Amino acid sequence: MASLTKDLSAAASAAFEAMGLEARWGDVRRSDKPELADFQCNGAMGAAKQAGKIPRDVATEVAAALRDHEMVLSAEVAGPGFINIRVSDAALAARAEAVREEKMAGAEGAPDPQVTVIDFGGPNVAKPMHVGHLRSAVIGDTLRRLLTFLGDEVTGDVHLGDWGLQMGHLVTELQDEQPGLIYFDADFTGPYPEEPPVTIDDLARMYPAASAKAKEDPARLERSQKAVAELQAGRPGYRALLKHFIDVSVAALKVDYEFLNVHFDLWKGESDVDDLIPELVERFKSAGLAREDDGAWIVDIAREGENVPVEKNGKTTLKNPMPPIMLINSRGGTGYHTTDLATILDRMEHLEPVPQRMLYVVDQRQALHFQQVFRAAEMVGLIDEGRLEHIGFGTVNGPDGKPFKTREGGVLRLADLNQMAFEEAQKKIAEAGKLPEDMGAEERHEVAANVALAALRFSDLMNTRTTNYVFDLDKFTSFEGKTGPYLLYAAVRVKSLLRRATEEGNKPGGIVIGHDAERALVLQLDNFAFACLQAREKRMPHVLCEHLYNLAQAFSSFYAALPIAAEGDEATRASRLGLASAVLKQLETGLDLLGIRVPERM
Ligand code: ARG
Repeated sequence: MASLTKDLSAAASAAFEAMGLEARWGDVRRSDKPELADFQCNGAMGAAKQAGKIPRDVATEVAAALRDHEMVLSAEVAGPGFINIRVSDAALAARAEAVREEKMAGAEGAPDPQVTVIDFGGPNVAKPMHVGHLRSAVIGDTLRRLLTFLGDEVTGDVHLGDWGLQMGHLVTELQDEQPGLIYFDADFTGPYPEEPPVTIDDLARMYPAASAKAKEDPARLERSQKAVAELQAGRPGYRALLKHFIDVSVAALKVDYEFLNVHFDLWKGESDVDDLIPELVERFKSAGLAREDDGAWIVDIAREGENVPVEKNGKTTLKNPMPPIMLINSRGGTGYHTTDLATILDRMEHLEPVPQRMLYVVDQRQALHFQQVFRAAEMVGLIDEGRLEHIGFGTVNGPDGKPFKTREGGVLRLADLNQMAFEEAQKKIAEAGKLPEDMGAEERHEVAANVALAALRFSDLMNTRTTNYVFDLDKFTSFEGKTGPYLLYAAVRVKSLLRRATEEGNKPGGIVIGHDAERALVLQLDNFAFACLQAREKRMPHVLCEHLYNLAQAFSSFYAALPIAAEGDEATRASRLGLASAVLKQLETGLDLLGIRVPERM
């Protein structure tokens, strides 16, 4: 069963069409004035203007047609031609039943499902993830879940950063520390030992050490640059080391992502498309799009008279023209643009079915990079125009409004952040005295992990993606306010209410709507379909967060206004429990889309 909004829109559209007017005028939405109406249709004014008719006449005719519809209780014309609609109790009851029974808890599939790659996470091998990586992981994973739910065929790709200078730093640093390793033999061809020569802690220590030395000493930098060039040219010992570094890093990354309930279908990286680079370069050359410059290959992508926005230190200025792309540098090496382009080629050639869209969930500050890559990809015909989207996001800031740093001034590692959130969750749970006395240690641990997960994911997702937000763990983990833990607790409360009712011999049954608080609750449930589609269309998870928060609030008003289990009459009791189970179903479905796990009890 479609949402009330959709059914009403269809009915109003039919009425407009019957008058020879366009169907689009029939769009119906929730009323801004719930005391006057449940829904409103504002199309009569625009339609009348276009057709040279009187708005109130058009509205009157549409309202009359709507009144014939079985779900409509009343349809009244107000002001210059607004139509205020109330739906019948029966229609609301049927809607609530559908939410309770349907697999999608009242949501509807997307009208235009697409084969979509979501490129998110983007961690770099050897550099530990920091708080900035939280956003890409959480927003990307939520879009992955949401789009899949709505019918898109989604592949989530982590796109490891494993091809840059950091790899050269690791090679040279390791060479200094353990010069005797076989990987450094000039004639090494393998096989190589299974046991990696480094641990994740080694990697975390080696990269910053080498990078600091290279800043001081140009010769040290030169060595690392040469090492990357050799690695990229395929030197077997270095390729073997790269594989070790990747394996060791991936194992550590998986732990952090698991804590955040973030999942990927593909664990590919920049280095995986190495063998496609010759083909890529050939495509640009044969299309006449690449020019040689001192041994390097350059692609010009600027268009005449065009200004591109460039963001620096939080300020956006217009800079002209769009900088060219370096496909191959004079050392024969490749960088960030080239690996991104080769990755598009790889996905178009090897993924089944062929992707129709690629979404890049990456910090807004990389906007120019993606404009360049997308334009070059479209110019050379790797993919149709408009199919590559940069889903940018703002930064996570500290209380000073600047990108978040630890007290010592360093970047906060994601692993430490996860641990901090876990401890803070434990503290909040203890303060609130929320857990049943008989709960064992293991379950307590799990509940705290779920509260931390809800806190981190919700506080990130509830903000409009493109804005910055201030990191405030105390606020995020609170059980009060617009927080993940609040929503989690709301869902668990409905769960225990239903469990208790069942234990007392009361079962959810057929839903009957009578009271205003029930009407308001079902109208809120009805909004889920729209919220999901809107969140997908705009790639904005906060729309879904907003809906779930409003739903939890509507449930708590309903619960405060009307007795449920204590109600004397059995049919009413069953109906209200039925409503509660519809709410639980939608809350759990929605929270799962946000990647939040609901515990059995707390
Ligand atoms: N590794 C990159 C970074 O840390 C992010 C990768 C984003 N994805 C992409 N296809 N470029 O900045």
